[in-house]
Amino acid sequence: MTNDDLAEVMDTSDEWIAQRTGIRERRWVDADTTTSDLALEAATAAIADAGIEPGAIDMIVFATLSPDHEFPGNACFLQAKLDVPGIPAMDVRQQCTGFVYAMSTADAMIRVGNADTVLVVGAEVHSKGLDVSDRGRDVSVLFGDGAGAVVLQATEVADARHDSHVWDTRLHADGSFADALWLPAPGMAYERFISEEQFTEGLNYPQMDGRTVFVNAVKRMPETVEEILSENGVTVDDIDLFVFHQANLRIIEAVAHRLDLPPEKVVNTIDRTANTTAATLPLCLDEARRLGKLEPGMLVVGAAFGSGFTWGSMLLRW
Ligand code: ACO
Repeated sequence: MTNDDLAEVMDTSDEWIAQRTGIRERRWVDADTTTSDLALEAATAAIADAGIEPGAIDMIVFATLSPDHEFPGNACFLQAKLDVPGIPAMDVRQQCTGFVYAMSTADAMIRVGNADTVLVVGAEVHSKGLDVSDRGRDVSVLFGDGAGAVVLQATEVADARHDSHVWDTRLHADGSFADALWLPAPGMAYERFISEEQFTEGLNYPQMDGRTVFVNAVKRMPETVEEILSENGVTVDDIDLFVFHQANLRIIEAVAHRLDLPPEKVVNTIDRTANTTAATLPLCLDEARRLGKLEPGMLVVGAAFGSGFTWGSMLLRW
């Protein structure tokens, strides 16, 4: 869906969207495709790329805010499609920071010896849940569908500075901002799960205070990058690649400016993908690999911010 395609169904323009967000187009699925379908494609590619069989996976961690159904979690639907019954399968519901939370969870499970080979997926189908009338234009133009996956495997780390592994992750949240970006209904907070009035008001669509999100995103992402670097005794100059959550090009540029990053070390996909929430960071990693910007041995920092508010970072020796 290009910006011009959107302008045909709502009162918006390529100029407005591109100027304020850097987004030119986004992918929206067809009517039959689900979030777990997208996840299956990403997972299958990641498993093949890792050179393992699906049966080698002993845990699935699935980050999404747009599951196929209210319950069970999407990890279970993906598990059935991958035909790997019996292993633990869990969802992470941390929105745009979902992939960082999922990586942190998988890393922790490996470190304590509860898992050896974890499939970590971030996948979203936003398009089916957006208000594509004029009322929802401030939110709908920002989001795209997508999926990405990685396979994390246990490894002996003799030298934490140089050996390939998840070096560190940092997680944060501030629930006092929960209603700055949220999907109010349906929910068990109400007398009934969803009411006719709520539909009429559009409370079944995402609601966002864009300025508050913007202000906090440009503060929290650099903060958590600085935190993870200083806690691990590395500097910005030591990092080969930065992958930031792709919500808005202006946010990414402000974060890169604050951290004084050279543009060639920052991956951007926003112009083609828009905001794919939990799928964003693995899509960026995949793009960086395809472009030859991410190779074994490189030091990578990923950081995200989103609804919750949640934010966090990860430091990877690739
Ligand atoms: N097309 C045309 N006009 C629009 C659209 C649209 N799609 N959406 C809103 N407008 C109008 C509004 O009605 C308003 O009009 P008015 O001034 O007549 O009332 C005007 O545009 C608002 O314009 P600005 O105030 O200039 O908008 P702003 O510069 O604040 O940009 C934006 C809005 C892009 C949403 C910005 O606040 C933003 O990016 N915030 C961050 C939100 C975000 O990234 N959310 C993603 C999820 S969270 C995350 O992933 C980090």
